[in-house]
Amino acid sequence: MSTLEPCIEYRGDRLAVDGVPLERIAKDVGTPAYVYSAEEIQQRFAALDAAFSFRDHLICYAMKANPSLSICRLLAKLGAGADVVSGGEFRRAVEAGIDPRKVVFSGVGKTDDEIAYALRKRALALNVESQEELDAVARVAGRLGVTARFTVRLNPNVDAGTHRHITTGRHDNKFGIDFRGALELYGRAQKDRRVKAVGIQSHIGSQITQVKPYREALSVILTLAERLARRGQKLEYIDMGGGIGITYRDEVPMPLETLAKEVRSQLSVWPGLKLLLEPGRFLTADSGVLITRVLYRKRTESTRFVIVDAAMNDLLRPALYEAYHPIVPVRRTRSAAVPVDVVGPVCETSDCFAKARPMPWPSQGDLWAVLKAGAYGFSMASTYNSRPRPPEVLVSGGSYRVIRARETFEDLVRHER
Ligand code: LLP
Repeated sequence: MSTLEPCIEYRGDRLAVDGVPLERIAKDVGTPAYVYSAEEIQQRFAALDAAFSFRDHLICYAMKANPSLSICRLLAKLGAGADVVSGGEFRRAVEAGIDPRKVVFSGVGKTDDEIAYALRKRALALNVESQEELDAVARVAGRLGVTARFTVRLNPNVDAGTHRHITTGRHDNKFGIDFRGALELYGRAQKDRRVKAVGIQSHIGSQITQVKPYREALSVILTLAERLARRGQKLEYIDMGGGIGITYRDEVPMPLETLAKEVRSQLSVWPGLKLLLEPGRFLTADSGVLITRVLYRKRTESTRFVIVDAAMNDLLRPALYEAYHPIVPVRRTRSAAVPVDVVGPVCETSDCFAKARPMPWPSQGDLWAVLKAGAYGFSMASTYNSRPRPPEVLVSGGSYRVIRARETFEDLVRHER
């Protein structure tokens, strides 16, 4: 089956993650449950690291994709830094053993407390997204008596050619600062000893499959770097953000080598500049599956519904973006495929994982696996409809362990008085 990754394959008729049958995991931890392959994440990291080995670089894992401590720990061991977007993510990075000096802090709405935390931890940089934010960073740094390392998040006004909800590099998006504004901010910083410009950052969107948007963004970044160099502002690095796309259905993302070649050629006249990348999805999406059990089947005049025990609160992407996730039976069957709507128990029409998807008509109790759920899956899960969030399981070296227990009813009401 072409939708399967090397880490997820049928052993005989049983779907397995790195050789561990999902049926066994489901039996032990129940359903729904997220299962990740450590091996797949390690391989992704290694591939990216190798592709950009032509230059001094740092891979700052975008933790929002999957902030599990165990997964961050695994990436920390491989030398990853982190891209964080809240004080909570920053603390997770530290907890997972990621060196805070390898952490960049993005996001349009950092609070004074979050800024202070990042400065105390000596973050690699705060990626500043507005004039007023730079003022706040300078103020907090002044109060703490430290120099704040920062980059401006440049909004290069390029179209990433991706879903409108996950494009970030155009002027009508809330992210970053345009070229002139950025130039002005770097100018101000030159006269302010509380802040130090160390780089330029840009993140133009997510699930990018073409090299062109990166080419365009990079060229704007380097034009800015040149203007800064001319007035004596020397930078340590440029940060290309994340966004590297994967195949959910039939997308054909650019090979890493193509992207690396483009970067290499544009950076050739900048020998001293270090390179930062902030991948999220690329590292973890393919490593994860959401296992779910078929509860009921029902037919209306127009539609066959398969009601499963996972729902939009567990995996929001289909409901929120109409995103496509492959779904496969955990035990392969020979029965013919029929178009079905795969829906969850949540009381919303949008609680639908797939519409008119050809699937073997299941029996009650069958297990299905929703694939490519390792990024923006659990991290976007909620407890809507008072549904406790599912457990997370990490498969590594032929065995597995629960890295996050299933939530309980007590967890749901813990903070209520
Ligand atoms: N850096 C910054 C500043 C970001 O905002 C993001 C993602 C990344 C890096 C990582 O992007 P990635 O490599 O994962 O594409 N929930 C959406 C994706 C939102 C991405 C937001 N920013 C989804 O499920 O498709």
